[in-house]
Amino acid sequence: GKRRAIGEAPRPADGALDLPTRLRRNRRADWSRRLTRENTLTVDDLIWPIFLIEGEKCREPVAAMPGVDRLTVDEAVRSVEQAARLGIPAVALFPYTDPARRDPEGSEAENPDNLVCRALRALKAAVPNIGLITDVALDPYTSHGHDGLMEGERILNDATVAALARQSLAQAEAGADMIAPSDMMDGRVGAIRGALDESGFTDVQIMSYAAKYASAFYGPFRDAIGTRKALVGDKKTYQMDPANGDEALREAELDLLEGADMLMVKPGLPYLDIVWRLKDRFRMPTYAYQVSGEYAMIRGAAERGWIDGELAMLESLMAFKRAGADGVLTYFAPEVARRLKAG
Ligand code: PBG
Repeated sequence: GKRRAIGEAPRPADGALDLPTRLRRNRRADWSRRLTRENTLTVDDLIWPIFLIEGEKCREPVAAMPGVDRLTVDEAVRSVEQAARLGIPAVALFPYTDPARRDPEGSEAENPDNLVCRALRALKAAVPNIGLITDVALDPYTSHGHDGLMEGERILNDATVAALARQSLAQAEAGADMIAPSDMMDGRVGAIRGALDESGFTDVQIMSYAAKYASAFYGPFRDAIGTRKALVGDKKTYQMDPANGDEALREAELDLLEGADMLMVKPGLPYLDIVWRLKDRFRMPTYAYQVSGEYAMIRGAAERGWIDGELAMLESLMAFKRAGADGVLTYFAPEVARRLKAG
């Protein structure tokens, strides 16, 4: 054909659409996709939740969470050392309490020598520069599996809040850097902040499970900490109704007024709209918890060869970033960190 002058537009080939904008142009090559990418996932986005058990030199698999173990304190120290070497900023601790130590009041929660407090002291000494986050709620310690104190069928709010404040103090004294109340009682953030400040722990942060829903996705976690069979009824009088979005804004606003340093949404992927709305409204550090059931779904499908587990893991975590999350609590944390390091 005839030679074109430089800069002269080519005539559209027969059948070509006359499109001024073709979004596929930027997606054509890997370099261009990297150049136009809007979000990135880094190791700094990861918080690793770990399960603790009594004993020594033991890792006990969690049935519905392939690849996740309950760790004795010595094993937790080893694993958290590795996590720190990978650059993971923080871990969150969850205990499996010996059933003999559970009672209706969850009094073991306040024991300064309980499993979590012993783990905190060991971890603080061995791995001083990783953040230690503790869950504040009574369910690992109550014989009925609820997050609060009960009177008959009722979960008592204000008496529970007082117990949570005492639990928080025990954890701060043992070395917790950040307290994460997951109980969904009203007024607990303010009470915990007050108790911490009064005892001189003004630097201990609070990450509020601001919007925590009454979700079916916590099933494997309840097995891991041994509360599934114990739980009487459900948690709908304190955890949020999955139908509600505006209410999450009110929960978050109150927690911030009471002194929360950061917000969290839980579960994760089914609630990305909530992550987005909280971030958009409050511009606060905002986190999402990719909970046990979400982990189990990805792992379970991958084990059957139904999806590519690694790609699904990375895609799900990127989705949190796109939704505005500043980080994610995920059981995949060490695996993702290793994967990101390998490039
Ligand atoms: C309990 C608590 C739960 C989770 C974290 N803290 C379960 C529940 O509310 O019953 C769930 C985490 C997960 O499923 O991974 N206070």
